[in-house]
Order: sequence, then structure tokens, then C-alpha cells
Amino acid sequence: MHWLVRLSVRSGLEDELLALAERAGFGTGAGLREYPHGLLADEAEESLPETRVHLWVPSADLAALEGWLTELCSAWSVDATAIRILDQQPADLSVDPERLWQSQWRPFRCAGFTVRANFHDATLLPAKAGDLPLILVPGSAFGTGGHPTTRMALRAVRRIHSEAVPGPWLDVGTGSGILAVAAALLGETSVFGMDPDPHSAEQALAMAALNGVGSRVSAWRGRLDSTRGRFAAVVANLFADLLQDVAADLAERLEPGGLLYAGGIVDRKWEATQARFTAAGLQFVDLASRGRWRGALWQRPVAARIGNRS
Ligand SMILES: C[S@@+](CC[C@H](N)C(=O)[O-])C[C@H]1O[C@@H](n2cnc3c(N)ncnc32)[C@H](O)[C@@H]1O
Repeated sequence: MHWLVRLSVRSGLEDELLALAERAGFGTGAGLREYPHGLLADEAEESLPETRVHLWVPSADLAALEGWLTELCSAWSVDATAIRILDQQPADLSVDPERLWQSQWRPFRCAGFTVRANFHDATLLPAKAGDLPLILVPGSAFGTGGHPTTRMALRAVRRIHSEAVPGPWLDVGTGSGILAVAAALLGETSVFGMDPDPHSAEQALAMAALNGVGSRVSAWRGRLDSTRGRFAAVVANLFADLLQDVAADLAERLEPGGLLYAGGIVDRKWEATQARFTAAGLQFVDLASRGRWRGALWQRPVAARIGNRS
């Protein structure tokens, strides 16, 4: 028997809360964000003070959840109102998670894209004037746009497209393919995406085809080390520990003058991550912040030695 527990969580804390809840045995991987802003919210959504989160908690763990949340607030040095239980009720686990995803996920606008899913009726939900429509294919790979780091990366894709020299793009950890497809929709003709997630490549290719850019996007199952050659732009919306490990490899994938976006960096790991990219010979261009998340733009100098000098 499970309980559906609805929480109000101070915005910016929800992703780490969901990850920790799963690790601690609360939520069993079924955590879900609720978007309270209605249809076609725009970027203002990120300034919402709180996010709703659902956890499916085994009955045996229900009593311990409250104490665990209090300890978490104390460990994060936030007051106890940052994470509040709104209500709890016996959960119907027979609900198809795919249908649940469909009922919870909301179209959004970001970086001049109107993002909707393939189950939304395009005639009822046309792209906002001036926006590029971007259509998601639901699936289990990461990258529905619900995560702030994906939206940060979408903004970086638009900026890189306007500033990078022409040439092929690499999307490291492509997930759903959302960033690769966005780049292709902007006009990039050669976008390569890879991800070790076994569901990613198929989902990314389906999404590219649905958006009419199937001939511009290639995707396969693999890690960064499965790529060869140099790229005018590299997008790596990953997480800090992995970015630190692969900083020198990412730098080597850039053509001289090429631009790299490295995102998914939680604030407390920014400085260590920055040090690795600097040590790899890249030039810092800009830093974006949203809540606890950081994402940075780097450039490979036209003439410089590249590699891990740390
Ligand atoms: C934060 S998700 C980003 C997904 C999508 N690009 C987005 O921005 O929403 C990070 C992705 O990196 C993938 N990943 C993990 N380790 C990797 C590695 N060593 N090389 C490439 N991708 C990796 C994960 O499977 C995951 O899909």
C-alpha cells in the first residue's frame, strides 16, 4: 500500500529533494513536479516561489517522512516552511505513469521556442507569434523541459547559434534530444547527440523526425568517448561531478574558437567545476544562474594548448 503525498517545496530545492527522497526510499522513483501555472506558461514561471511535488510513499515509511523532511531543512539551513506536506491520501498505483505524465506536463515558452508535446492539439495550441514550435515525444529519457537546467541550456543553444562559427554541433547527454532538435530548428545542419541511456537515441531521433529536422540530427547510445573529431559548438547539460571528470575531453572536442555550454552544475560545485575547465585551457565567457543551478559558456582560444593541466 502506498500513499500519495503532495508537498510544497521552495523553488530551486525540488530536484535535489526528489533525488534524495528516492535514495532514502521515500518516493520509490515516482516523484513528480506539478506545474501550477496553467497552459503555456512563459519564463516568468521560474520566479514562482514554490513548486508542488508528489511522492508515492510506502505506508511503512509514511510516519518517518515528516522527520526526514525536517532534518533535510536543517541540513540545507532553510527554515521548516521551505518544505511542507500539503496533504496525503491512499495512492492508486494502477494509474498509468504515461497518462499521469500527460496530465501533469504543461507546454511552456523558453528562449523563443513554444514547447509542446505530440499529444497536444496543434490547432488549439499554436506557437506564440515569432516563436519556433518545438514538439516533444514523451518517453523516459531526461529532457522534458520541466527541469530548470534544460531551460537554461535551451537559452544557451540560442545564444551559441547566434555567436558560434558555422560547423557541426555535439550534444553530450542528449536525453530526449530536446537541445539537439532546438539547434537544428534554429538552422544548424549537423547536430550529433549521444547518451548512455538505452532509451535516449530512439526518442531523440523520433523527436527530430517529428520536428522535420530528421536529416540534421544524428543520435546514438554512448558516452562522450564514443565521439571523434572537432565541433564548432558543444552542449553538455550534465552534472558537476561528470563535467569535472570530462572537462579536458570536452575541451578537446572543440574547434579553435568553438563554444561550449556546460550546465547542470549545482551552486556549491561551481567553483571546483570552473577550475577544471580553466585548467583544460578554455576561456570563461559567461555564467547563468537559476535558483541553485549554474551553467557556463566557455570558448576554446584560437591558439592555445588544450588538455588537462590540473
Ligand atoms: C541532465 S540530463 C540532460 C538531458 C538533456 N540534454 C537536457 O538538457 O534536458 C544528462 C544526460 O546525460 C546522460 N549521461 C550520463 N553520463 C553520461 C556520459 N558519460 N556521457 C554522455 N552522457 C551521459 C544521462 O543519461 C542524461 O540523459
